[in-house]
Amino acid sequence: MRLELMTSPAVAAYLAERQGIVIPVGATEQHGPDGLIGTDHLCAEVIARRFGQEHGVMVAPTLSYGMSQFHLGFAGTITLRPSTLTALVHDIIASLAATGFTRLYFLNGHGGNLAPVRCAIQEFYAARSLSGDATPAKVHCRLRSWWEMPSADALRKALYGDQEGYHVTPSEVAITMASHPDHITRFERPAPPQPGQDVLLHAGDNYYDAADYRARYPDGRVISHSALATREDGDRFIALAAEDLARDFALFCAAR
Ligand code: NI
Repeated sequence: MRLELMTSPAVAAYLAERQGIVIPVGATEQHGPDGLIGTDHLCAEVIARRFGQEHGVMVAPTLSYGMSQFHLGFAGTITLRPSTLTALVHDIIASLAATGFTRLYFLNGHGGNLAPVRCAIQEFYAARSLSGDATPAKVHCRLRSWWEMPSADALRKALYGDQEGYHVTPSEVAITMASHPDHITRFERPAPPQPGQDVLLHAGDNYYDAADYRARYPDGRVISHSALATREDGDRFIALAAEDLARDFALFCAAR
């Protein structure tokens, strides 16, 4: 069920039965010499839509832009500042809350979004707390990245091991091959250079600026052997991540 393809009365009818919604969040940024610019939002979107279709759960329009400032050294990247993304997500939370949704599940496809989206969630709760509102919030938010889904995570380790890497990962590339086969198919590319200790910089997407990123990772990949990706792998990732999402979403909606 896609929000943008429904009428307002149909959404109201849905809300009378259930109040959960999934919001895919991604980015529009370089994905090396072979990956699609939209990889991060396309991955979150296809998994969210698969789940929504199979379980009759509402899926919001995808947030296609994210916090990608460190990729601006490469053509095609469009970034939001961290504060812009925080403000955008905050307003989406407030809008969904105002119209009756109470379980807001952000399915993320880009590590750089994590801090700004977490900040947006806390901004929403801070406004309530600072107002002195004595009633516990009815609206609950959860943020998960698709690669954290346990079955998908186990598969990426099993298929690619250390060659999964951190950016333009074979798992995300595989998902786009499955979701957009007219736009990306299997390609040849040698394994990327190993940047050694520099990779430690990545934890939590702690990159510096765009010029620094480009100097460290000249072809855009961060130790990911993207050419290992296949469309068949992508089909498996989508199915597994959608099943994991179904379990996690059910727990999230049932929790008080
Ligand atoms: Ni990506």
